[in-house]
Amino acid sequence: MRRYSPDITIMLNAVRKASKHIIRDFGELEHLQVSVKGQNDFVTNVDLKVQEIIYRELSKARPDYGFIMEEGQSEKLSSKNIWIIDPIDGTLNFMHGLPYFSISIAIKSNDKIIAGIIYNPVQNEFYWAEEGIGAFLNDQRLRVSARQSLDQSLIALGIPFLGRKNHKSHLKMQASVMKKVAGLRRFGAASLDLALVAAGRVDGFWEEGLSIWDIAAGVILVREAGGLVSGIKKNEDPLISGNIVAGNPKIVQALQKVLAT
Ligand code: IPD
Ligand code: CA
Ligand code: CA
Repeated sequence: MRRYSPDITIMLNAVRKASKHIIRDFGELEHLQVSVKGQNDFVTNVDLKVQEIIYRELSKARPDYGFIMEEGQSEKLSSKNIWIIDPIDGTLNFMHGLPYFSISIAIKSNDKIIAGIIYNPVQNEFYWAEEGIGAFLNDQRLRVSARQSLDQSLIALGIPFLGRKNHKSHLKMQASVMKKVAGLRRFGAASLDLALVAAGRVDGFWEEGLSIWDIAAGVILVREAGGLVSGIKKNEDPLISGNIVAGNPKIVQALQKVLAT
């Protein structure tokens, strides 16, 4: 069995603790309490509980690290190391009983993502990556797919939710890509979409309008699996713009070209 670094072990222990609640509540969705943050933007009592547990565990283990969390105030942002947390990525899937959602945690150190984990508690799939060490699914090393042309590629995408402003431009992009690729898939959790790219299960992914907690862990997974993560426009930093394209370098270039038209 692989020996995990102290930071990966801390994240793994925190998500294991929090996952017990997710699994229990996933089996009793009729008791779920849902609040609305904005139009079609939901937060459940489970998102909040998971974040609370992870926050408590991580602050205990690393009192000097800062926090950026989807469901809470940022903290200690001048710290060298910052935890970036999405307690449930794929809340809409979770609420509908679809077992495709994750807990996603990354560490940003001096503006660079140096480690990340993405855990799918239903499938017990633990994706993790650390700078210079590699990307893994449980103990198995990951590599992005080697496909070189879009017409053989399976591409994952994000579709803007109700209430987002970019429906028209998204449909134009989707129409252009659809004509060039073997198939498109919308799974519903950006972190896991990036993990699928890292694992070579899909050949590429793109989405607009994401937040740093959706993609921080996925970015290092794809990079450590030998892939490229870029903006939809070549010079854009996806961690700032929220617009992301991922895959092997050839597929990213090809996707960017199609998306630009
Ligand atoms: C969402 C998921 C989804 C993406 C949305 C995100 P949430 O995160 O990652 O795949 O299309 O843009 O907001 O709200 O479930 O944490
Ligand atoms: Ca998310
Ligand atoms: Ca979330």
